[in-house]
Amino acid sequence: MNKAIAELEDVTAGYNGEAVLRNISLKVYPKDFIGVIGPNGGGKTTMVKVLLGIIQPFKGQVSFPSGKINIGYLPQASRVDRSFPISVEEVIQSGFKTGSAWWPRLSKAQKARSTKLIDETGLSAYRKRPIGELSGGQLQRVLLSRALINQPELLILDEPNTYVDKNFEGELYKWLQELNKNMAIILVSHDVGTISSMVKTIACVNQNMHYHPSNEVTAGMLESYNAPLKIVAHDKAPRSILNKHI
Ligand SMILES: Nc1ncnc2c1ncn2[C@@H]1O[C@H](COP(=O)(O)OP(=O)(O)OP(=O)(O)O)[C@@H](O)[C@H]1O
Ligand SMILES: [Mg+2]
Repeated sequence: MNKAIAELEDVTAGYNGEAVLRNISLKVYPKDFIGVIGPNGGGKTTMVKVLLGIIQPFKGQVSFPSGKINIGYLPQASRVDRSFPISVEEVIQSGFKTGSAWWPRLSKAQKARSTKLIDETGLSAYRKRPIGELSGGQLQRVLLSRALINQPELLILDEPNTYVDKNFEGELYKWLQELNKNMAIILVSHDVGTISSMVKTIACVNQNMHYHPSNEVTAGMLESYNAPLKIVAHDKAPRSILNKHI
């Protein structure tokens, strides 16, 4: 078995001394594709922030057993400050790790990488546009490009399908399947149909966590961890939701 590339060990975390996640453990292996589901406020984004080192756990450990890794991160859309006067290209390039704390001096290779990503995500026409003038879907493309700029070993996407149209959603999912050949992916999503059709394993997060080593979404998981309405609204609910939770 491979070594894990990221690991949470018995993590309890939260805000202002109040725990929102309790005793969470998770191992991420190379080429994992983990779907994270759970109700609003269940602690999914908090778990992601612990992995990224944005917040420190009250208890437990975050480690990278196979050494330092690059993590690409697409934050949940509603949390991005769009009033900041910065262009599409600048946002994407801000993902590069550079020596300068103030303004990055990009190498030729970095410029080429950024141009390639901008083309691939269909953003060429918006390159110089301030992000405040983008639609929600366009902004998601920009943030995904930024997340990929360092060719991460682990890509974490927090609800990437918010605001995007079906067309881009389809493209995004195909792209994720392709990316997953070279990197581990953690996908937080309320779209259970998508989760079960794309991911390899599922983590249910609602204060605590249950890890399911398959991509089968069961009725029990939905009852405890998701709003059943989402399923009713989804036109292609997987048959496996009828299976019993184990
Ligand atoms: N910066 C913060 N300060 C204080 N409490 C917070 C903060 N961020 C989140 N919380 C609280 O922590 C709990 C978990 O929030 P979190 O954002 O991790 O949930 P989530 O599962 O990502 O929800 P959603 O599906 O709505 O994105 C919630 O009760 C939330 O109000
Ligand atoms: Mg969240």
